[in-house]
Amino acid sequence: MAKRKIDVCLTPDLLHLYEFKDRIVVVVDILRATSCMTTAFAHGVKEIIPVAELEECRKLKEQGFIAAAERNGSKVEGFELDNSPFSYMNPKLKGKSIAVTTTNGTLAISKSKESVAVVIGSFLNISALANFLKSQPQNVLILCAGWKGKFNLEDSLFAGALTEALKDDFDSECDSPLAAQYLYNYVKTDIVNFLQKSSHVKRLKRLGIEKDIEFCLTSDQYEVIPFLKGDKLIKMESNFTYNQVGA
Ligand code: MLT
Repeated sequence: MAKRKIDVCLTPDLLHLYEFKDRIVVVVDILRATSCMTTAFAHGVKEIIPVAELEECRKLKEQGFIAAAERNGSKVEGFELDNSPFSYMNPKLKGKSIAVTTTNGTLAISKSKESVAVVIGSFLNISALANFLKSQPQNVLILCAGWKGKFNLEDSLFAGALTEALKDDFDSECDSPLAAQYLYNYVKTDIVNFLQKSSHVKRLKRLGIEKDIEFCLTSDQYEVIPFLKGDKLIKMESNFTYNQVGA
């Protein structure tokens, strides 16, 4: 297959600068939305309805959906689930549909809907995701969820790791994949330590959330690749091709 193109959008506020309607968009929010989503599907959750607005999530809750809401790292009062991957390992969630809203991750997903396909990336499923992208003819845009429109280290580090994994099959289109790749290669031997300085790790630690951090930074825990089908995230089956994704 010919070499394809890869680009990295460092925050959703820059998305208007990128052509993405003709490509697969990998949405990443390492701490912790896409790590949670990957974990949820690895533990048998049936579907996730990602919504950007809290009010929309509340309405789905009133319709009987299990609902998860996080703002600024904390669970929103009145919702059952927070945004810790460990909460999604609960066997009671097997086969369930869950409405989810987070500070940045679900907004990034909602902004990507016009693409050929939206797939969910995390360190937890990075090799399975890389193998899938290599098997598809589409160009790729990695969309970092960032923090409220600003750059963050952990999502950009993931973008570098995925760009590195795809380097034999994809050419970097702009400077952001290269910067992300250099950053990743510079710190890859100890990303947990490196990220101790990052704003969101410090925020999570202030909230007493420690164990999520190391787990979300661990590569290849799961093979699942969540993708957006209509308004819902579901698990990709092994024989998928991009034109079925996002249908
Ligand atoms: C986000 O949406 O930025 C994160 O998921 C927030 C968090 O879970 O701490």
